[in-house]
Formats: sequence, C-alpha cells, structure tokens
Amino acid sequence: MSGTYNSRMTLSYYRRHIFFCLNQRANNEACCAQHDAQAAFDHCKSRVKAAGINGPGAVRVNKSGCLDRCAGGPVLVVYPDAVWYHYVDASDIDEIVDVHLVGGRVVERLLLAPDIGH
Ligand code: FES
Repeated sequence: MSGTYNSRMTLSYYRRHIFFCLNQRANNEACCAQHDAQAAFDHCKSRVKAAGINGPGAVRVNKSGCLDRCAGGPVLVVYPDAVWYHYVDASDIDEIVDVHLVGGRVVERLLLAPDIGH
C-alpha cells in the first residue's frame, strides 16, 4: 500500500459523529458528568435511532472523555462540522437532533462561545 490517499480512502463511514463529554472528576472540579451528561447522551441515542438517522452513512452518537472545554459544560461537538454546543436539558438535545443532525442547520442559540476552554 502506498502512503498516499485516494478518494476511496477518504470516504467517511459516518456522515456525522456527535461526541458527548461524559467525563467525571472525583475532586469536585467542573466536569460534564455533574450536569447529567449521561442522561443527555442516552436521550440523544434514542432520538437519533427513532429518527432513523443512526448507522453507517448517517450519524454515530459517541461517548467522549474530557474535551477540555469544561468551563462550558456540559458540552458536545458535532464532526466533521466542528460545531460545539452547550446544552441544558432534553429539549436542547431534541433541537440539536432535529435541526442539526436531521436538518443540517446549526442551532445558533446553543453554540458554545469560542473562548470557553478548560
Ligand atoms: S469535563 Fe467535559 S469538557 Fe472537560
């Protein structure tokens, strides 16, 4: 195999990944798990499946460790779009699924501010 890419190698198996930070810290530092990120992740998986957009060629919902933007937690990111969101509750997740993952449009009101870091 050569060291160069061809078009077949660059095809994406999934159209989009949505990564939920589920990081838990024991020392009471800010972390996404403090905001019930697991429930949001579970809800998103259910909604994506119910919408019929899960699987190859479509959407993969993934757990993630710390994404190093803890001050804005809970956070998630959608790739390859590189769109970061802060969410509060299940209705925010519903909106991200319906508008972004199904509709392909960014949910402006939930965007994580670009200067939010650790
Ligand atoms: S703990 Fe979630 S981004 Fe760091």
